[in-house]
Amino acid sequence: MSLTTAEQLAELQRRREQARAPYDPRAVQRQRDKGKLTARERIEALLDPDSFVELDALARHRCHNFGMERERPYGDGVVTGYGTVDGRPVCVFAQDFTVFGGSLGEVYGEKIIKVMDLALRTGTPIIGINDSGGARIQEGVVSLAYYAELVRRHVEASGVIPQISIMVGPCAGGAVYAPAITDLVVMVDRIAHMFVTGPEVLRAVTGRDVDREELGGAASHNTVSGNAHYLAADEKDAFDYVRTVLAHLPSNNMSDPPVLPVAQTARDPELDRALDEIVPDDRNRPYDMTTVIETVLDDGALLEVQPLFAGNMICGFGRIEGHSVGVVANQPLRLAGALDIDAAEKAARFIRLCDAFHLPVVTFVDVPGFLPSPEQERGGIIRRGAKLIYAYAEATVPMVTVVTRKAYGGGYGVMGSKHLGTDVTLAWPTAEIAVMGGDGAISVLYRRALQDAADPAAERARLREEYERTLCNPYLAAERGYVDEVILPSETRSRVAGALRALRDKRVTRAPRKHGNIPL
Ligand code: HXC
Repeated sequence: MSLTTAEQLAELQRRREQARAPYDPRAVQRQRDKGKLTARERIEALLDPDSFVELDALARHRCHNFGMERERPYGDGVVTGYGTVDGRPVCVFAQDFTVFGGSLGEVYGEKIIKVMDLALRTGTPIIGINDSGGARIQEGVVSLAYYAELVRRHVEASGVIPQISIMVGPCAGGAVYAPAITDLVVMVDRIAHMFVTGPEVLRAVTGRDVDREELGGAASHNTVSGNAHYLAADEKDAFDYVRTVLAHLPSNNMSDPPVLPVAQTARDPELDRALDEIVPDDRNRPYDMTTVIETVLDDGALLEVQPLFAGNMICGFGRIEGHSVGVVANQPLRLAGALDIDAAEKAARFIRLCDAFHLPVVTFVDVPGFLPSPEQERGGIIRRGAKLIYAYAEATVPMVTVVTRKAYGGGYGVMGSKHLGTDVTLAWPTAEIAVMGGDGAISVLYRRALQDAADPAAERARLREEYERTLCNPYLAAERGYVDEVILPSETRSRVAGALRALRDKRVTRAPRKHGNIPL
C-alpha cells in the first residue's frame, strides 16, 4: 500500500532534518576545536538573518569507488543557495570540511556550477566560502573535470558579476585556483591556508620541510605573495569585510553601484584646511597619503584592498557624495611612494575591478618614479609595470587625478596622467611635474660643468635651485592643459566631487576587438 500524505510529508521532514544534521559529529567537533564555524553557520553569519534559501540540500554523490556507496551524506559536502546582504540578492556556496574534507566530486561540482549559473543568469554576486582539500581523490578524473568546469564559470563571470572568495580552511589544489580567478580573496588568520601543493607533498617530492603557515598562511599571502586581499582576524571579520565591499559594488556590470543618501550636515572647513599644511617644506620628507584620501572621502571612510601588500601603493573603496569610488594612491611613507612590481600589479588589478563595475577611479600622485633596482629589472618590472599603464589606458570609467607633490618621469605618465585617458587632472601648488628631481637632473645635465667649477657644491646648489624653479612645479603642465586646474589642497574634496558629478554620464566607445592583450 502506498504511503499516506501525512507519511510522505513526514518523510520530507525526516530527510530535511538528516540533511541539516552534522554528518560526522566528530569532524564537526574537530572543526570547532580549530575555532572554525560550520558551513551553515558561515552562511548565516554572512547573509541577512533568515534570508538564506538552500538549493540541492538532498543531492548525493553517485560514486562507488573505495566503499563510497556506504557514505552518501545529503548535500555532498557543500551548501549552496541564495539570500541577501543588506537586502540585495547574492548567491553563495560554503564548502563543508567535515564531509570528505570539503573535497569536490561530481555532485558537489554540479551544485556549485548550478548556483554559479543562477548568479550569472540573474546578475547576482557570487560568494564562495572555501574550506576544501581540492579534487575528491576517490572520484578521480571526474573531480578534475568539475574543477575545470568550475574555473571556466569563474572566468565567464569575471567582470560580469562580482565574485568574492572567503578562505576559511586548508585549501589545496583546485580549491585555490578557483578563488584565484575571483575578484577578491579574503583569508582568515591562522585557519586559512592556500597552496597548490601542500607541505606533505612538498616534503615527499623535494625533501624540503616548510610549515603550513609559512607555505600558505593567511599572513604570508597577504604580505608576501599578494594572493590575498584582506587578512581577517576571525571569520566574523571576514564576513563584515565582504559585506562592506559588496555595499560598494553593483550587483552586475549592467547596474550601477548603490548610492547612499548624503548627510545634510555642514562639513567642518578645518578638515579641508588641514591639507594646506600637509606637504612638508622639505620635499624629501614623507607624509601620510591616507590623511589626504580620508579628507576627500565621505566620513573619511576608506576600505583598503590589500592593505598589507605593497604599502607604497594604496588601493581601496570609498564614497564621494554618496557615490562609490575606487581610490589609487602613492604612499610616500613607503619607499618614498616609488612604483615597483607589486605596487603596479596591485593597482592594475584594482583599477580593472573598478572599471568592470563602473566605479570612478580617483588617483592621488606623489611618486618619485619607478624603483631603481636590479632585482626589479630582473623580476620583470617592464612587463609587470606595464600592467598599470594598460589598466589606466583601457579604463572607461570617470577618472580624476590629483598630483599632490612629485610626479616624476615614468611615474608621471603611469599614475593616471591626462595622456592615459584621465578626464580631470588637478595639481596642488606643491606639485613637481618633471622628468626627474633636481639632484638627478643636475648630475646628468652639468656633470662636466660641476667638475670644472671652483666651488662644485655651491654651483650644484645654484643649478639645482634654478632647475627646480624652472621645471619642478605644476605650471608647465597647466600651461599645456596636462593639468586642468592648480588648486589649493583645501579645495581638493570640492573639486574632486564636482568633477565626478560632471563625469557621471561619461560614455566611451572603443573600436570592436575580441580582447586586448594585457601584458601578464
Ligand atoms: C578526498 C580528502 C581530500 C581529498 C582531504 N580529505 N582531502 N578526501 N579527497 N582531496 C579527507 C581526509 O582523508 C580526511 O578524511 C578529511 O578529509 C580531513 O583531512 P585531514 O588531512 O585529516 O585534514 P588536515 O590535516 O587539516 O589537512 C587538510 C589538507 C590535506 C591540507 C587539505 O587533507 C590534504 O593535503 N589533502 C589533499 C590535498 C590535495 O592534494 N588535493 C588534490 C589537489 S589536485 P577522514 O576520513 O580521515 O576524516 C586538484 C586539481 C584541481 O585539486 C584542478 C584545477 C583545474
